[in-house]
Order: sequence, then structure tokens, then C-alpha cells
Amino acid sequence: MKVLIAYHSDYGSTEKMAKAIAAGMRSSVPETQIELKQAGNTAPNDLLGADVIVFGTPVHMGSMAWQMKKLIDESASLWMENALQGKVGGVFVSGGGFGGAGGGAELTMAGLHANFLEHGMLVVGFPKSTLGYAEGGLHWGAYARSGNHEGMPAGISDSQLTAARSYGAHLIEVAERLFD
Ligand SMILES: Cc1cc2nc3c(=O)[nH]c(=O)nc-3n(C[C@H](O)[C@H](O)[C@H](O)COP(=O)(O)O)c2cc1C
Repeated sequence: MKVLIAYHSDYGSTEKMAKAIAAGMRSSVPETQIELKQAGNTAPNDLLGADVIVFGTPVHMGSMAWQMKKLIDESASLWMENALQGKVGGVFVSGGGFGGAGGGAELTMAGLHANFLEHGMLVVGFPKSTLGYAEGGLHWGAYARSGNHEGMPAGISDSQLTAARSYGAHLIEVAERLFD
């Protein structure tokens, strides 16, 4: 199974989640081939070789970072060719979360899902029975809050990274069931 995890991260929180998701995949299915790439260094053709595509972004003003959107828009030619149809997709997001209402994390995840669904991909969510869901899960994917209640950066917690690992394991297990 080949996995591409394409993400944007300015300050490292989303990148930590990307690495945790990869670790969760490897712990569940050790032979998984995983490529981690910043969205800015990812070309549309990089998506072609993956069975599983995972997109991650910080929340920026209630939606995805422009670097992620740029990759998505540049991949429109793949839509013309139905080239991503049937691949498995998963998403993860980190946000400051000021105000306790998520700061747009769910909207951001839904935006990433919309892209996968446009391509005819199969989207894998984060079921609430999965280990870690209560700390770092939203039904749409893995979420980590990096801000504190004063709206200042505080970093993401170990339990949120555990949730991201768990989401990675879940994603690869679903993909294995689908493709094997
Ligand atoms: C330009 C900008 C806009 C942001 N907008 C939001 C927002 O709308 N909602 C939110 O929860 N956090 C927002 N944040 C906070 C980031 O999403 C948060 O710090 C995130 O964890 C950063 O991830 P990174 O360390 O991978 O860059 C914003 C940060 C920046 C730089």
C-alpha cells in the first residue's frame, strides 16, 4: 500500500500530526510505503502513485491554508482524467481553536473532503469508537488544538498526537480491507 501525506505547516503543529499519522499507519501495517510532503513541494503527479492520499492543513481564517488550496487547484487536470477515482482519502487539521468552537476546523475538513469527493475518492472519517477520538477526533478526521484559552499558541498535546496516530492506523486498516 502506498500512502502520500501532503500537508502545509508554518509552525510545526500540523507537521507533528502528519508524522503521528504516518507512525500510526506503520504500527498497524509495517510494510506501508509512506511519503510525507509539504504541499508546496507536492506536484499533482505525486498524487497519482498513491493508493491513499491524506491532506493536512492548519486552519487559516476559517479554511485551509492557501498552499493546500494551490495544490488542490493545480490537480484539477487529474479530475478531467478521473485519475484519482477510487483512491482512499483522509484529512487532518490543526487550529488555534480560540473560543472553544473549533475556529473553523470542521469547515476546513469539509473543504478537503469536497475535493476528494469531486475526484470520486472514498473518504474515511474518524469513528468515535476509535482510540483517542475524544481527545483529538472529529468525525471528519484528526483535529488538534494548538492555542490556549487566551488565544495564544500553546502547542498540541500528546493525547492529540495519540489520536492522530490512531486515525492513521484506522485509515490504513480501512484501505487494506478495501484493496486486499
Ligand atoms: C494567518 C493565520 C490564520 C489563522 N486562522 C485561524 C482560524 O481561523 N481558526 C483557528 O482555529 N486557528 C487559526 N490560526 C491558528 C493556526 O491554525 C494554528 O496555530 C495552527 O495550529 C498552526 O499550524 P502549524 O503550526 O502547522 O502552522 C491561524 C493562524 C494563522 C497564521
